[in-house]
Amino acid sequence: MQRIFNTRRDHMSRRNFLVTAATTGLVSLFDTKYSGSVIADSHRVVSLKASTGRTRLVPEPYNDTHVWCYNQTVPGPEIRIQQGDRIRIEFDNQLDEETTIHWHGVRLPNAMDGVPHLTQKPVAPGERFLYEFDAIDAGTFWYHPHQRGFEQVGRGLYGSLIVEEPNPIQVDRDVTWMLDDWRLEQSAEISNDFGDAHDMSHNGRVGNTVTINGRMPDDITVQSGERIRLRLINAANARIFELDFADHSPVIIALDGQPVKPHVSENSRIVLGPAMRVDLILDMVGSPGSRSVVSDVFYKDLEYQLIDLLYADTALRSEVPDWPMELTPNPLIEPSGLTAIVHEIQFTGGMMGNMVMQQMGIDSGSAQSSGMGSMMGMMHKKKMWFINGVAAEGHVMDPMLTLERDRSYIIKMTNATAWHHPIHLHGHSFRVLSRNWVSTPHLEWQDTVLMSPREKVEIALVADNPGDWMFHCHVLEHMLGGMMGVIRVT
Ligand code: C2O
Ligand code: CU
Repeated sequence: MQRIFNTRRDHMSRRNFLVTAATTGLVSLFDTKYSGSVIADSHRVVSLKASTGRTRLVPEPYNDTHVWCYNQTVPGPEIRIQQGDRIRIEFDNQLDEETTIHWHGVRLPNAMDGVPHLTQKPVAPGERFLYEFDAIDAGTFWYHPHQRGFEQVGRGLYGSLIVEEPNPIQVDRDVTWMLDDWRLEQSAEISNDFGDAHDMSHNGRVGNTVTINGRMPDDITVQSGERIRLRLINAANARIFELDFADHSPVIIALDGQPVKPHVSENSRIVLGPAMRVDLILDMVGSPGSRSVVSDVFYKDLEYQLIDLLYADTALRSEVPDWPMELTPNPLIEPSGLTAIVHEIQFTGGMMGNMVMQQMGIDSGSAQSSGMGSMMGMMHKKKMWFINGVAAEGHVMDPMLTLERDRSYIIKMTNATAWHHPIHLHGHSFRVLSRNWVSTPHLEWQDTVLMSPREKVEIALVADNPGDWMFHCHVLEHMLGGMMGVIRVT
């Protein structure tokens, strides 16, 4: 199949796209916050309707694209509320299939978590459901379906949920970029090969068209001396981003909605696995009239230019501001290392999984209850990823771990596969303690941790939210292939 961008293997650039598209007259969506924004009114009631729609992902002369979306926009409306607010979301399903809404990263009551059959009856076509919860944490979150996510999210059902701090840090602009990756055909329609077995057993459905807030980006106009709080959200099924901001050194101030000590990453790049969020302080250090390119360099030989920072001719100020960047911590309970109970979790399966397990000295018989002899059989059933030897068939299953409420836990995770996995736990945030036995510099709180092939990661949490919670890989094709489990907090 011919893909828009993959015709040249070396450079999946929007510039190539623009070679064949009109090169002028593109309206930049990024000068202001995108127009789909909805501020919850004083009653903090938001209506969301899921349906099919059309949207312009790629510029003329390409067609617009049939999508599935909330309130006729991709992304769905940005919901902004204040920390401590109670929000009601009146959801109306006008799709032809069942769905749910999951509030990714939000610590809320189990019944509001939006997992079909596990926490609620799926919302049937034509039915409604009322989600209602308190926003106890400030930060950058997002919402998406949890039913057949590999297709529902992949067709455009997602939006951002921003919980504002009561006293936000001072910035000139607060900007959200919802990153997504689409597999478009030459017609600009979405390729129908959702759940493709090759995608499932490799790195998931990586597409050929990257959008920011639902449009293939051109540039964002900035001003010399300006300070932007940039909220990055990776809504892609499978694509991992590693953003390079050229001469800028973005300061990371929050991960997955949770504040972190402001710091610059080792190489100044920002890595986001699927579902992850990073809040940045971006000081505009370029000179008036200059241009700077933000590129994504994660996949070797497939680097591309994401968006240009276009400096206006006049500076906002002559020096970058020295305003404080540190956010107030959310009310998370600190896990105790002394009394923590330790559990181990092992991820196996996928293409070349046998080889990695052998290399890591892991006995395949014990790691996969079905035995590797039947790998082909499992592939046939499209179950090819395992957590502690089990490939999930659906959202309802016996818990892989049962945790006692309010106790501290350390979970030692091993990625015994040849692929990256963003591992997500519902209903809780956890501290990432170490990677390959080396302590993390900031013991960052996250709800989704990206594990590299063969990597070992230790996390710690207090199991303070009762219920059955999903624990899964957020590469949605891996999830479909069995890479999920349930953790019960009693
Ligand atoms: Cu973002 Cu289980 O999901
Ligand atoms: Cu995975």
